[in-house]
Amino acid sequence: MTRSSITFSRRYSLLMIMFFALCLVAKAQLRTDFYQATCPDLLKIVRREVQSAIKTEMRMAASLLRLHFHDCFVNGCDASLLLDVTDSEKAAAPNLNSARGFEVLDRIKSSVESACSGVVSCADILAIAARDSVVLSGGTSWKVLLGRRDGLVANQTGANNGLPSPFETLDVIISKFATVGLDVKDVVSLSGGHTIGLAKCSTFSNRLFNFSGTGSPDSTLNQSMLTDLQNLCPLTGDGSNTAPFDRNSADLFDNHYFQNLINGKGLLGSDQILFSSDAAVTTNTKSLVLSYSSNSRLFLSDFADSMVKMGNISPLTGSAGEIRKNCRLVNS
Ligand code: HEM
Ligand SMILES: *[C@@H]1O[C@H](CO)[C@@H](O)[C@H](O)[C@H]1NC(C)=O
Ligand SMILES: *[C@@H]1O[C@H](CO)[C@@H](O)[C@H](O)[C@H]1NC(C)=O
Ligand SMILES: *[C@@H]1O[C@H](CO)[C@@H](O)[C@H](O)[C@H]1NC(C)=O
Repeated sequence: MTRSSITFSRRYSLLMIMFFALCLVAKAQLRTDFYQATCPDLLKIVRREVQSAIKTEMRMAASLLRLHFHDCFVNGCDASLLLDVTDSEKAAAPNLNSARGFEVLDRIKSSVESACSGVVSCADILAIAARDSVVLSGGTSWKVLLGRRDGLVANQTGANNGLPSPFETLDVIISKFATVGLDVKDVVSLSGGHTIGLAKCSTFSNRLFNFSGTGSPDSTLNQSMLTDLQNLCPLTGDGSNTAPFDRNSADLFDNHYFQNLINGKGLLGSDQILFSSDAAVTTNTKSLVLSYSSNSRLFLSDFADSMVKMGNISPLTGSAGEIRKNCRLVNS
């Protein structure tokens, strides 16, 4: 070998080593066995606590699933939503008098702390609780990636701007998902989360009497459902009554949400536009609704994939953030 070829191959191996080292760093991300050594019973503990909360109130499954979504869309999945601070996300419009389940998370966290103190993040507990909520509601399971750390700040403006509203157009909703790295398929499959849980009149009553200044109800809303909702949500009411998203099976995690959309029985404007708006054709959400409505296995498997993607939004890893002792407070 010539001298220059030795130098070349040395340089080359050095480059290769650096390349693989970089890959390792890049991949030093979330993994399923993150707590295997430090908190081996973690999954059992969370499952037991979610089970017990749901036994008291079935709706809690829906509430916990929603909390994970509202956490991940604001500064990533870092449990920023759980902080009781001045700039709290809890007080942002999409969460105020709406987000619920915080006491349940406190309970899960305290059980986890008893078994393995100071090692499991609130962000990871929330991700596991969301998965367990879906499973215990009859939905599909998936392996939750772990190793997130908890953020040090909440972001109320971020919550107001980043979370989708039921009054927005499909294009705006799609762009809010795109901002956090989620695509149109994720929009539709994750909206299927609305197969469980309830919504207050104030989130859909704009559709019931004088929709967008037309003087008439939203024409895409099925007549029989319209009548029921008008009775539940009178103009004189305070908007706090609640209706199930999925009238067929409010507590069951199934694909009825999509069958409902085809029948004009989506509850929120943001639900029904996935099927009925002009944009639903051009953006392809309509064909996804049709696929999920006729293929429950496809929905459940896409939902699981999208949940893993959502759970991967900008996690804090390594030494970023901290492992909170109390999910409501940063460590002092
Ligand atoms: C696509 C944009 C979305 C909009 C505009 C939206 C909006 C809403 C609104 C307005 C409510 C009712 C809140 C209340 O009445 O207090 C709600 C509830 C709920 N959302 Fe969404 N949501 C969206 C996406 C999602 C996603 C991605 C998930 C989870 C994968 C989700 C899961 C839930 C659940 C389970 C509930 C019921 C919560 C309960 O009963 O406590 N939503 N959503
Ligand atoms: C809060 O969220 C906004 C996005 O709406 C972002 O631009 C800003 O940097 C965030 N602030 C903090 C303190 O993380
Ligand atoms: C519906 O709302 C529009 C705009 O807000 C208003 O001009 C109109 O008078 C309303 N129609 C009825 C029937 O209340
Ligand atoms: C309204 O719902 C019924 C089923 O309850 C369905 O047969 C009918 O086609 C729906 N109407 C529209 C306009 O989608």
